[in-house]
Amino acid sequence: MQPQLLGDDQKKQNLKLVILVSGYGSNLQAIIDAILQQKLTATIQAVISDNPNAYGLTRAKSASIPTKVLSPGTYTCRETYDHTLADIIADYNPDLIVLSGFMRILSDQFVQRFIGKLINIHPSLLPQYPGLNTYKRAIADGAKRHGCSVHFVIPELDAGPIIAQSALAIDVDDTIESLKQRTQKLERILYPKVIRWFAEGKVIYSERGTPILIHPVTK
Ligand code: GRF
Repeated sequence: MQPQLLGDDQKKQNLKLVILVSGYGSNLQAIIDAILQQKLTATIQAVISDNPNAYGLTRAKSASIPTKVLSPGTYTCRETYDHTLADIIADYNPDLIVLSGFMRILSDQFVQRFIGKLINIHPSLLPQYPGLNTYKRAIADGAKRHGCSVHFVIPELDAGPIIAQSALAIDVDDTIESLKQRTQKLERILYPKVIRWFAEGKVIYSERGTPILIHPVTK
């Protein structure tokens, strides 16, 4: 069966989101702000973290969003952890599960359960630089461009259909830190925008892996 998300006949007025964070949560904050500023019609049902010290949890609490912490240490294996996490998420019956700096690799079973409803933001112009240390690798390669990608999550790491990308030119004097700052600024614009497209019924997941919608955003 081909999973579909939010076709024309399924348009959502108020998108239900569950957001997963591990750290600082600047993208989470951008989504919260977009909702508060009424640029995005959505409800964040819960923010869930594997890290009890994630600052993203503080941001969620400040916005009166329910939070949950699921520490991996108490689970014997990834599959058990992911199964518990998946059950918690499924209880919310969200329209979209948003990975926002969630630093765990999710098991195939988890991904398959939510395929088409699970998105991630990655700090590179995929398919370039999947994985970690994208800024360092881009600068070491003398790359001319960098940016960020929002994509559907599939079992293969950072390889799912790309929904949208935002690009910048790498300056000769860019450092890893400056490139990170500049890219993350783009992320905080792009992620709420893509989620809004979901709320507007503009994004459909295709199992064939063809990006249905690519909007390069340069400013
Ligand atoms: C972002 O740069 C995102 O691309 C990557 O993790 C980082 C999370 O940042 N997946 P934050 O926690 O949203 O500030």
